[in-house]
Amino acid sequence: MRSLRSRLRPLLVTGAVVGVAVLCVPTALGIAGLVGWTDVLALTFLGLLAAAVGVLGLGTLLLYRRVGALSRSVTTAMDTHSRRVTETLGRDRMETTRALDDVRERVVHLQKETLPRMGRDIRNAVAVQGRDDYEQQVAWTELRDHLDTAAFMPPLRGWAASPDVLRLLVRHIDRLRPDLVVECGSGASSVWIGYALRRAGGGRLVAVEHDARYAELSRDLVAAHGLDDVVEVRHAPLVETPVTTVTVQGEELPTADRWYDPSVFADLKGIGLLFVDGPPKATGLQARYPAVPTLLPRCAEDVVIVLDDAARRDERAIGDRWLAEHPELQRTEEAAEKGAHVFTR
Ligand SMILES: C[S@@+](CC[C@H](N)C(=O)[O-])C[C@H]1O[C@@H](n2cnc3c(N)ncnc32)[C@H](O)[C@@H]1O
Repeated sequence: MRSLRSRLRPLLVTGAVVGVAVLCVPTALGIAGLVGWTDVLALTFLGLLAAAVGVLGLGTLLLYRRVGALSRSVTTAMDTHSRRVTETLGRDRMETTRALDDVRERVVHLQKETLPRMGRDIRNAVAVQGRDDYEQQVAWTELRDHLDTAAFMPPLRGWAASPDVLRLLVRHIDRLRPDLVVECGSGASSVWIGYALRRAGGGRLVAVEHDARYAELSRDLVAAHGLDDVVEVRHAPLVETPVTTVTVQGEELPTADRWYDPSVFADLKGIGLLFVDGPPKATGLQARYPAVPTLLPRCAEDVVIVLDDAARRDERAIGDRWLAEHPELQRTEEAAEKGAHVFTR
C-alpha cells in the first residue's frame, strides 16, 4: 500500500503542475486580452479535462503494471509451492513404497522360513510330549499292576516325581530289599515307595520334609493309605549350611546356604536307597548337594542313590561334584522324563 502511494505521488505532482499550468495559461491569455473570458473558461475547462484524462490514463497504466507484477509474483509463489508439494509427495511415496517392500519381504520370510520352522518345532514338541505321555502312562500302569495299591493314588508328575523314576526306585527296592530308604522331599512318592516296601516284605521309609505344612499333608496321605507302619515323615527345617561357590556360565555364584537340620538323620544307619528329590531348587544353587557329603557315611556299602531332576543343569553339576569328591562313586544316567542319575559305589 505504501509503495503504491509512493508510486502515485509523482503522478499527483505532475497532475497538480499540469492543473496549475492549465489554470494559469488561459488566465494569462485572458489578462493579455488575446482571448475573451468565455474562451478562457472553455480553455480552462478543456485543459482540466485533458489533465484529468491524462492523470487517469497514467494511473490506470501504473495500476495495470502493478497488478501484472502482483499476478506474476503470485504465479511464481504458487509454482514454488506446488513444486514443493510435488517433491514432498514424491518423497513420501518413495518412503511408503520402501516400507511396503520391507513389509512384503518380511511376510515372504515369515511364509517361507519362520512359519514352516515353527510348524516343524510344534510338530516335534507335540511328538516328544506324546512320547513322554505314553512312556509315563506305561510306567504308571506297570507300577499299578506291580504294586498292590489303593484304587485312588496321589497323582504324579509336575511337582511330584514322575512314574518312570518311581518305577526305577521300585525296581531297586525289589532287588535290594533295603531295610532303610531315605527320601529328601516328601509327597506323593512317599506313598508309592511305601507300597513298594510293603510289597517287598520289609524295610521302612523315612521321608524328610523341610516344609511343616507339606510334612503334615504327606503324613495325612501316608495315613490315608494305611502305610504309617512303613513310612515316617519327619519335619526337618532348613538350617544354615556352609556356602561354596560354583561357576555358572563363567560367573562365580554362591551355593544354597541352607539344608535339612542334620540332627533329623542322627539315628539313621545303613541307608540302602537314598532318593534325593529335595530341598526345592528355589532354596538356592545346588540345594541338593549336601545330601551325599552328609548322608554317605550313614549309607550301606551297596547303597543306591537316585538323584531326580538330573536333566537340570544344576542337578548335573551336583552329580559332577559328588563324583569329584567321592571317587568311589559311579554314575549311571537313566532315561527318565526329568532325568534320573543313579550313583553306586
Ligand atoms: C520335588 S517335590 C517332590 C516331593 C516328593 N519326592 C514327590 O515326588 O512327591 C519337593 C517338594 O515339594 C513339596 N510338596 C510336597 N507335597 C506337595 C504338594 N501336594 N503340592 C506341592 N508341593 C508339594 C514339598 O515341600 C517337597 O519337599
